[in-house]
Amino acid sequence: MDPNFVSREQTRLLRELREFLAIPSISALPAHAADCRRAAEWLVTDLRRLGCPVVEVIEGSGHPVVWAEGPRIPDAPTLLIYGHYDVQPVDPVEEWKSPPFDAMVRDGKLYARGAADDKGQVFCLLRAYEAVRDAAGKPPLNVHFLFEGEEECGGHVLDDLLAREPERTTADAALICDMSYYAPGIPGVYTALRGLCYAELTVRTLQRDLHSGSYGGVAPNAIETLCRLLCDLKDGEGRIHIPKLYKSVVPPTRAELRAWDRLPFSKRDFLRDEVTGKALTGLKKYSVFERIWALPTLEIHGIRGGFVGDGAKTVIPASATAKVSLRLVPGLPFVQVAKWLEKAAKAAAPNWAEVDLKILHGGDAVEVDTSHPAFAVLDEAFKEIVGKPTVRVRAGGSIPIVPRIGSGGAPVLLTGIGLPDDGLHSPNEKLDLQQLWDGIAVFGRFMERLAAVPLAPAP
Ligand code: BES
Ligand code: MN
Repeated sequence: MDPNFVSREQTRLLRELREFLAIPSISALPAHAADCRRAAEWLVTDLRRLGCPVVEVIEGSGHPVVWAEGPRIPDAPTLLIYGHYDVQPVDPVEEWKSPPFDAMVRDGKLYARGAADDKGQVFCLLRAYEAVRDAAGKPPLNVHFLFEGEEECGGHVLDDLLAREPERTTADAALICDMSYYAPGIPGVYTALRGLCYAELTVRTLQRDLHSGSYGGVAPNAIETLCRLLCDLKDGEGRIHIPKLYKSVVPPTRAELRAWDRLPFSKRDFLRDEVTGKALTGLKKYSVFERIWALPTLEIHGIRGGFVGDGAKTVIPASATAKVSLRLVPGLPFVQVAKWLEKAAKAAAPNWAEVDLKILHGGDAVEVDTSHPAFAVLDEAFKEIVGKPTVRVRAGGSIPIVPRIGSGGAPVLLTGIGLPDDGLHSPNEKLDLQQLWDGIAVFGRFMERLAAVPLAPAP
């Protein structure tokens, strides 16, 4: 790999990344479907420019998948690279210090929606690949690229594709760069992701909204009923009241818990710099790591109903809807939990309420065995470029396609160049540019080293 690649090309790289980030590929909002397609097209153009002889846009029920193959390198291993080009919505947009789709550099950090999650990291891998090609444009190993546009919205296009064509997951290793360092200076490799069960819970108590003077005092209020129901499902101590939920959890091993205890961690700094609140909540008898990595959660994402416009309107709402999700851990399969949630919500409803639960999407938790030699190769690359190997940690977040990516037998390397305070899904999401420049070198060296290492025993 040309050691001067980044310093020589920095200006161009920044311009290209800003161009990619300028496309508002918000997968959850139907109004942005054309933008999602433009982001896919941006990748297609880039992959062609990088000399990939195979570049495909694969259509399905939603936003397209982009698949590409580098030139065939006989006898070299195959690396499958996965990432997503879609991003989360930007609200509350008024809290952004610069427009979310006009990436700005402040103090060495690039601010934009998708800067870290995941366009900036996808870009990092593309440029690492660019940097390891020889003068004839040949990389040291076979690389397959797989990019989706529905990671953030729970779409099916990629899942359907891989169910139909599982051979696309055949590789010697899969690399997913959609995560962050454990802490500044300490890269991470992830041994588990939580699963997810995302639902809309609707409560109806009346045929129509009513005057709160004429009927206040006797008519059942849908928002109040919904709030009480939500509080029944999760109490003030953070305990979720869904029968069998906690009993089914497969807890982390003692060795894992001990390793987490040894990680550098300050509750005070975590609260101040990342959580940005006044106190941590949740099940007090468990450590912070257990609460964010190894236990299920129930979060309320938004409540719709009644009157939320400017000014005042005296009304008793007839219906209300909450968007909620559970994060899942090993022992809690998505399909099972979806059934338990429906049962628990209906059981908790008073007799004046009609409760309807609609599952929007979800996926299972995953655990990753990090003993495959490819993980040692990644550690060597990080050591060489940033001076430290990875630490083994879990992620509280989810990437629903990961079980499928691993289904072909390739070890799945979950890692990334983000930092914990990047603000994924929040206003003012950012990527530290030094992390990007280092990341290009790290993944470039990873590809070169992987090409040189005997991965499987010779036949
Ligand atoms: N990059 C994140 C996953 C992630 C978050 C990993 C935090 C490590 C730490 C990913 O893009 C993401 O946000 N996933 C969604 C998936 C969901 C919408 C199905 C998530 O976790 O909310
Ligand atoms: Mn995300």
